[in-house]
Amino acid sequence: MTTALLLAHPNFAASRANRALLAGVQDLPDLEIAELYALYPDRQIDIAAERERLLRADRLVLQFPLYWYSTPPLLKQWFDEVLTPILYKEPDVVAALAGLPLLAATTTGGVAGSYEGDNPSAGTIDELFAPLRATARKIGWQWQKPFALFDIRNQDDAGFARAGAAYRATIAALPKLEPRLRLAS
Ligand SMILES: Cc1cc2nc3c(=O)[nH]c(=O)nc-3n(C[C@H](O)[C@H](O)[C@H](O)COP(=O)(O)O)c2cc1C
Repeated sequence: MTTALLLAHPNFAASRANRALLAGVQDLPDLEIAELYALYPDRQIDIAAERERLLRADRLVLQFPLYWYSTPPLLKQWFDEVLTPILYKEPDVVAALAGLPLLAATTTGGVAGSYEGDNPSAGTIDELFAPLRATARKIGWQWQKPFALFDIRNQDDAGFARAGAAYRATIAALPKLEPRLRLAS
């Protein structure tokens, strides 16, 4: 079984923050990283391959830079094209994936105070990710407290290294889908 990590970054070549997070987790055992924009440069998602990726996974991580308080578009397309047929036409796959832990991990240009604390101006990350959380609930997955790295323009190498280590610890501590819940894979 794997930890499937879907990285959705439209310009990963220029990334600092998401690159640093990935560097932090690279040595985790059984980690399967799928860089969606590299896999599907023409935006033609291989739906069968993505279904198989899910069926190999006992936890799912979605990693992306926050774009207009949301996910980059290819990740939304992945939800539309991969999850919709599973939900409506493939009850055996829904059953096999029931209880899959889902972690959303993001990086922001905005400072922490915009998203955390007593009066976050943008709302908390968990509030902003309500559509992801609702999707997880609808399909029967276990929503996890999101991971966020804020204020990326003011991070130095040490800050990025600390964030990578914290991200690694968060993923390592995620629950795993119980094998006994799997009906098919
Ligand atoms: C199109 C676009 C939209 C963005 N929207 C937001 C936003 O809503 N909130 C925010 O805090 N940062 C926003 N940013 C900043 C990015 O989140 C930030 O540049 C990114 O997390 C940096 O990660 P990277 O170094 O991996 O590219 C946006 C950036 C772009 C290019």
